[in-house]
Amino acid sequence: MSEAATGTATSILDVSDVSKSFPASKDLLGRVTARLQAVVQASLSIAPGETLGLVGESGSGKSTLGRLVMRLLDVDAGRIVLEGSDITEARGSELRAARRKMQIVFQDPQSSLDPNWLVRDIIAEPLRAYGVTRAEREAATERLLVDVGLEPTHGARYASEFSGGQRQRVAIARALALEPNLVVCDEPVSALDVSTQAQVLSLLESLRDRRGLAYLFIAHDLAVVHHISHRIAVMYLGRIVEVGPADEICRRPRHPYTEALLSAMPSPNPADRRQRILLTGEMPSPVNTPPGCRFQTRCTHAMDRCREIEPELVAFGDVEVACHLHDSGPILAGASVTVIPRK
Ligand SMILES: Nc1ncnc2c1ncn2[C@@H]1O[C@H](COP(=O)(O)OP(=O)(O)OP(=O)(O)O)[C@@H](O)[C@H]1O
Ligand code: SF4
Ligand SMILES: [Mg+2]
Repeated sequence: MSEAATGTATSILDVSDVSKSFPASKDLLGRVTARLQAVVQASLSIAPGETLGLVGESGSGKSTLGRLVMRLLDVDAGRIVLEGSDITEARGSELRAARRKMQIVFQDPQSSLDPNWLVRDIIAEPLRAYGVTRAEREAATERLLVDVGLEPTHGARYASEFSGGQRQRVAIARALALEPNLVVCDEPVSALDVSTQAQVLSLLESLRDRRGLAYLFIAHDLAVVHHISHRIAVMYLGRIVEVGPADEICRRPRHPYTEALLSAMPSPNPADRRQRILLTGEMPSPVNTPPGCRFQTRCTHAMDRCREIEPELVAFGDVEVACHLHDSGPILAGASVTVIPRK
């Protein structure tokens, strides 16, 4: 595999061939009779200060992969390396040290923030858990409130008194309290209205640039992911099917699934508008997936080989794609196989 998937010596995070399944059904004795493959042999890397966007439909395994990275779930197989240390099996003090370096922001600040706590206590909690003194906690909380665009006086209020956007700012302040180097952002703006989304995205960008943060930025909306990401990984039914520089992925999608996601993305420039490719049918069940390509049931380019052999990620320059269309070398799914008229 190339550096696009496996990372480099300078990566902050290297995830290699990580898989995770969950029990999908049990018999009367409680024995597992079927398993659901949520993440299958996923590899990715993130450099310091870099944002890797992770995009895909609901149920594609994005949050599971984010939770595996955070070690909120244990992997079935594969390896997670954070700043050069293998944390795949880390427990106790080792895991505690790793958690200090990476934090997570969830989609719904309503449920991730305790409504009965004052905002200053919510933000200071991680500092308290790591033994930071009260005086230092108070100073840090004030600084963090200002850093996320709130007032120091907001610390004396309850999170439930704030708007959705303000609550997400509180969640971001809490995530930054321990000065992590990596933040997993799991759909951090999906629950917000469009204008608030733009403000929170711009805050995340400026915090990243000021603090040198790296993000694993998860969303189902390719437009949002493209806006903030340096590189994009596209996930379908548990697998990463394409990964590469954000502009390249959005200008020349090589996987038919990426192409379909992209065709649904609004473009302000009429010259860039693509014919909408409708994805018919639902994503198949991740239980007992059939052999071959996972996208075969919805792919207009599916061939015999797609029903038999699961395509591997293959590198073409700095883009990797898992699709048999490229078995004989890189082609552009849209340009070479179907004619995509531009409006
Ligand atoms: N704890 C769990 N137990 C059983 N199945 C789970 C569990 N967590 C996730 N899954 C299943 O794993 C698959 C991937 O779920 P995941 O939440 O990672 O997808 P997602 O891409 O984040 O979706 P969404 O965009 O809706 O958040 C889904 O089929 C989901 O039902
Ligand atoms: S491998 Fe085949 S079915 Fe899968 S995306 Fe490529 S062309 Fe479509
Ligand atoms: Mg999710």
